[in-house]
Order: sequence, then structure tokens, then C-alpha cells
Amino acid sequence: MRIVEATPADTPTALTVEREAFGRDDEAALVAALLHDTTARPCLSLLAYDGEQAVGHALFTRVSLIGAGPDNRGTYDAADARELRCAILAPLAVVPAAQRRGVGRALIDAGAARLAAAGVQLLFVLGDPAYYTCCGFGPALPHGLRAPYPIEPAAAWRVRALAPGVLGTVQGSVACAASLAAPEFWRE
Ligand SMILES: CC(C)(COP(=O)(O)OP(=O)(O)OC[C@H]1O[C@@H](n2cnc3c(N)ncnc32)[C@H](O)[C@@H]1OP(=O)(O)O)[C@@H](O)C(=O)NCCC(=O)NCCS
Repeated sequence: MRIVEATPADTPTALTVEREAFGRDDEAALVAALLHDTTARPCLSLLAYDGEQAVGHALFTRVSLIGAGPDNRGTYDAADARELRCAILAPLAVVPAAQRRGVGRALIDAGAARLAAAGVQLLFVLGDPAYYTCCGFGPALPHGLRAPYPIEPAAAWRVRALAPGVLGTVQGSVACAASLAAPEFWRE
């Protein structure tokens, strides 16, 4: 398997993987919207290939943490000199024929490594706690890291630290890209 950063020319391939994995259009539409959304940038779009066949896709987009930091200054965002950089994984898709072969985990790890190298410190995800525990994510709420909307069950809102010393030292609510902000994207 090989994992590559998707270019704009790869967008139709990524959308096909999303449709096949979820068996519907919703996630492909979300990916298309996020890829055109300036509030989602920087974003990272990864494709997993088995030979010439695209079998997985992951999209990571920028989020901000709004809230009190250790010094109660209020907001961590790109304008802050002591900037806290965060991203969210949404969606993650592996085509049915390639599931349970480590493709999802490989996409997550490849994304986490690239984001960490780019200075991103926290990576969030909303999803199956059992699956995402296997992939390095822990519950976010006990660290004071809230989703844009209350999540039920709360354990589905998860975070993976990409840098040491950040988790537990910052609290707040995640603000996501405009395309991801509708409440229907925040139900598990
Ligand atoms: C969920 C999904 C992304 C997982 O991808 P995958 O490539 O099949 O998962 P992996 O093979 O990387 O699994 C990694 C680990 O999680 C486990 N796992 C896989 N799917 C799981 C599930 N649904 N629940 C619990 N654990 C799961 C695997 O057994 C593996 O653990 P192991 O290495 O100890 O055996 C994929 O099944 C999928 O695209 N599903 C449809 C779309 C979807 O629901 N996406 C999710 C969130 S947006």
C-alpha cells in the first residue's frame, strides 16, 4: 500500500472512495465542500493506493481552539504568537473490499506524521470510540477540549496529541471550518 497527498486532479478519485466506503453521497459532498472552503485551510487530503487502485481517503482540515489557555488570554488561533495549531480528521473512508487490513490506521498515522511535521499539535476526530482508540485517539472532554456541539455519546469526541506537553495544558471549544459547522455533522 502507498499513501500520497491528493492534488486537485485527484479529487474525483477521493470522492469515489468516499461514496464507495459510506454507500451514499453525503461524505463525498462534504469533502468537495471542504476542499473549496478557505476556512478549512490548511488542509491535508491523503489517498491510499493498493497498486493502481485507490482504496482509502482521509481529509484533515484546520480547526481552532477557542477558550481560556493557561494564562487566560482567551483565544488560540493563527494570529496568536503562541499559536496552538489543531486539525480534525473528517471524513475517513476505506472501500469495503479493503477494510480491516490496516488502511484506515495507515492513513491516520501518515496524516498525523505530516501534520506534526507542519507544527500541528492536536488532532481531533468524532467517531467510533473503539476504532479510534485503536488508532491513537483518547477522549477529549476529560482534557477540557469541547466539540462545537454537545456530543452523545461523549466518548465519541476524541483527540490525539501530535506534540508533547500540550494535552492537559489547554482547554476550550473547537471551532471548525464553515463547511463542517452544521449540527448534522456532529451527531454520532
Ligand atoms: C472505519 C474505517 C475507516 C476503518 O478502516 P479500516 O481500514 O477498515 O480499519 P483498520 O484496518 O485500519 O483498523 C485498525 C484497527 O481497528 C480495528 N477496527 C477496524 N474497524 C473497526 C470497528 N468498526 N470497530 C472497532 N475496531 C475496528 C481493526 O481490527 C484494527 O485493529 P487491529 O490492528 O488490532 O486488528 C472503514 O471501515 C470505513 O471506511 N468504514 C465506512 C466509513 C466509516 O464509517 N468511516 C468512519 C468514520 S468518518
